[in-house]
Amino acid sequence: MQIHLAAFLIAGNAAHSQVLWRHPQSQPGGFLKLDYYARIAQTLERGKFDLLFFADRLAVSTRYGGDHRYGVAHGDQDATRLDPLPVLGALAAVTSHIGLGATRSTTYSQPYSLAREFSTLDHLSSGRAAWNVVTSVNQGEADNFGLRETLGHDERYDRADEFLEVAHKLWGSWAPDALQLDASKGQYGDADQVNAIAHQGRHFNVQGPLNIPASPQGGPVIIQAGSSHRGQDFAARWAEVVFGIQPDLPRMQRFYQDLKGRAAKFGRAPTDIKVLTAMMPFVGNTLDEAEEKRAQHNALIDDPLVGLSTLSSHMNVDFSAYPLDAPIEDLQVAGMQGLFSLVKELSKEQKLTLADIGRLYASGVLVPQIVGTAADIADWMGNIIAQQGADGFVITPAHLPDGFDDFVDLVVPELQRRGQFRLDYEGDTLRSYLQS
Ligand SMILES: Cc1cc2nc3c(=O)[nH]c(=O)nc-3n(C[C@H](O)[C@H](O)[C@H](O)COP(=O)(O)O)c2cc1C
Repeated sequence: MQIHLAAFLIAGNAAHSQVLWRHPQSQPGGFLKLDYYARIAQTLERGKFDLLFFADRLAVSTRYGGDHRYGVAHGDQDATRLDPLPVLGALAAVTSHIGLGATRSTTYSQPYSLAREFSTLDHLSSGRAAWNVVTSVNQGEADNFGLRETLGHDERYDRADEFLEVAHKLWGSWAPDALQLDASKGQYGDADQVNAIAHQGRHFNVQGPLNIPASPQGGPVIIQAGSSHRGQDFAARWAEVVFGIQPDLPRMQRFYQDLKGRAAKFGRAPTDIKVLTAMMPFVGNTLDEAEEKRAQHNALIDDPLVGLSTLSSHMNVDFSAYPLDAPIEDLQVAGMQGLFSLVKELSKEQKLTLADIGRLYASGVLVPQIVGTAADIADWMGNIIAQQGADGFVITPAHLPDGFDDFVDLVVPELQRRGQFRLDYEGDTLRSYLQS
């Protein structure tokens, strides 16, 4: 069984770790420069990663304390983010194999412009584009796009379903051979092979066709990360890659079985969907060295409020209104419900206060930190795959731009020696790597 690898990035000062920018090995302002991203992407391509992907949100955090002051002053996950798509356009020029994924919201985009963006990226990268489909959860985003409040949880997914239908119709509106380019006959395109889509629906009316010929993958690889029941149904219908955050093997297995079990309902095979679970590796030549690296990162969390600011943004709840030294309240949230259920479970199981949750969240949302030598980490990963906890991993860094180096230089060769990971890219497109 081959392991699939993705890298988690934000085009800003954080990753899952919200203290990453304070790490002595980080370049805090690097995220505004192209060479920073080029360095990261080239390292990941050296490590034969299937893809890198940028998470995204469309607002600075305004939930915690009711305005932007806290998040901006301390640098929470939403303090600064470049638009990931132009970053990927630039990375297409300095890489040649790795998949390039960006997050775009179905609530705050239109299918026609989004279909163009990803079709363009797919052409310019020769078939490496991926779209992380999100429905957007927080009030700050609604406030930036003229909505009085965010759409209801299930309504967001209803709109997203129709959005995906329209986007796929647009990507299919040019048959693969429709662009003829026969200069001697003066035949540019075969109009019979280009079709309007004439979509009339509840949320969208789109005539089409797209003004871009069929791209190498025929449309980007679809990524999704919803973890509520409605979110998992959406993923089972559309996604080719699903990201999960699960802290332990039993939870990974439940998520994996649940998601794959939904595939048949949408006429798909379980293997059509690759489930990648997030991990934050700390790799050393010895266990002590690895432990030291983890301690160095986690010591940067001197204040639980950075994590609570991000938690407020994720859950669309102002946690400044709750006592820090008490367990987390049993709230119903409209934000990331799957992740919030996990927060509540962990809080109960480990008797964590809101301040403890804040520190945990700041260290890496709820992504498990995996510490050890390359062999230890490869053992841990191999076991997750063998026990059907995941098809692969989303690797999240503790510092940047060099935070993937240990993994690529030490763990990847170990996985390759064990025959669990590709020695080189096979196939021409991101979709072909995922299917191998
Ligand atoms: C691992 C993970 C990564 C996510 N990344 C993003 C993101 O980059 N941007 C965003 O707006 N939402 C992101 N989300 C939110 C989901 O796309 C989804 O909107 C949210 O989880 C609410 O859906 P749910 O209630 O089904 O979980 C992420 C969620 C998870 C679990």
